[in-house]
Amino acid sequence: MFWLGLLSVPVAVQAQGFSTTMLRFGCSQITIDRIDPLVEPGSIPSAHVHQIVGGNAFNASMPSTDISKLADCTSCTFDQDMSNYWTANLYFKARNGSLKRVPQMVNDVIGAANGGITVYYTAPGPKTVTAFKPGFRMFSGEVSRRKSAGQGKRMQSCFRCYTGPNFGGNTNSPCMDPQRDTETFPKTPCPGGIRSSVIFPICWDGKNLDSPNHVDHVAHPTNGPATFAVVDGKCPASHPVKIPQVHYEVVWDTTKFNNKAEWPADGSQPFVLSSGDPTGYGQHGDYVFGWKDDSLQHAMDNRCFGPSCQGLTTQGFDKANKCVVKTVVREDNDGWLAELPGGHQIM
Ligand SMILES: *[C@@H]1O[C@H](CO)[C@@H](O)[C@H](O)[C@H]1NC(C)=O
Ligand SMILES: *[C@@H]1O[C@H](CO)[C@@H](O)[C@H](O)[C@H]1NC(C)=O
Repeated sequence: MFWLGLLSVPVAVQAQGFSTTMLRFGCSQITIDRIDPLVEPGSIPSAHVHQIVGGNAFNASMPSTDISKLADCTSCTFDQDMSNYWTANLYFKARNGSLKRVPQMVNDVIGAANGGITVYYTAPGPKTVTAFKPGFRMFSGEVSRRKSAGQGKRMQSCFRCYTGPNFGGNTNSPCMDPQRDTETFPKTPCPGGIRSSVIFPICWDGKNLDSPNHVDHVAHPTNGPATFAVVDGKCPASHPVKIPQVHYEVVWDTTKFNNKAEWPADGSQPFVLSSGDPTGYGQHGDYVFGWKDDSLQHAMDNRCFGPSCQGLTTQGFDKANKCVVKTVVREDNDGWLAELPGGHQIM
C-alpha cells in the first residue's frame, strides 16, 4: 500500500489553511444485483443492474430505519459503517453487438478490496458539519441525462482515463481537473482503466431524511458541486445545514476491452452504463446512511483523515471481503449478453 494518494487533497484546500477532515476507505463488493431499495423499493428486479457495497442489511425492501442495527457485517473497513453505497455498472459493447460487464478493480491506495467502491467523507474542519441521522438516504445524478448539466469544472459526476498502472500516477482532485476529467466516457482506450467519481450534495434542509425523488431534501452549494466543495461552498437558504461531503470512486478495469478492432467501426467509444446510457452523463450514486450511533459525527468532529480514526475501529479486507449478500435476481452477470439485463435500449 502506498500513500501517495493522500497528497491528492487539492492544493487549494491546503493553501486556504483549512484543517480538512477526510475519511477515505475501501468497501468491497457485497453483491451485484438488479435491485434498488432507494429508487424502486420492493421491486425484484429493479430496472437496471447495480454494484453494491457496505452493510449486509441491504435488500430490495430494507426499511428506512437505523440499518446499523439490522446489519451484522460490513464490507467497508470501518467496523462502525453499515451504510450502503451503490452505482450503475459498466458494460462493454463489442463490434458484433454482444455485451459484457466490466469488472471493478481495486483502488490501490486503499488495499486489497474485492472491487467495490472507495468512499470519502469530507468536512472543512472539526465541528463544521452535521452528520446524517438514522434513516437518511439520498441520490446523486440523473439516470436519464444525456447532455452536460453545464456546470463546467464543477461536475457532480466525472470520468478519468487512467493512462497506466497505478492509475497513471494521477489520483488527484476528482472532477476538478478539466484536462483530465470529463462528464462523458473517455473517447480513447484507457491503459489503466476508467475512474468514475460521483459527488453528493453537501447541503440539507435540516428536516427530511428522504424526499420523493431522493434529491429534493439535499442541495449542492450555490456555486455548484465539486469534490471538496465543503471547503468553499455556501448552502442555499432552503438547505442551510452543511452535511459531510460523500463522494464515491469506482475504477472499472477496462483493460481487457482496449482492442480497437472490437470498438465500433464509426470510431465512437464502446462503453455503456447498465441503464442503457452510452454517454456517461447519466451516471449516478445511491446512499443509505448506516453508521453506528454517533460514530460518523465523531469522525467529522475530530479531524480524522484517511482510513483510520481515533475512537473508531477498523477491520482488514480479509474480514471485509467475507461480508457478502446473496444475489436475488438470478441472471447472467458475467458472460457475453445479447442485451443489457432488463432489456434496456442503448440510447
Ligand atoms: C429486508 O430486510 C428486512 C429486515 O432487515 C426484512 O424485514 C425484509 O423482509 C427483507 N426484505 C426482503 C425482500 O428480503
Ligand atoms: C462478439 O464478440 C465478442 C468479442 O470478440 C465475442 O467474445 C463474442 O462471442 C461475440 N458474440 C457473438 C454472438 O458472436
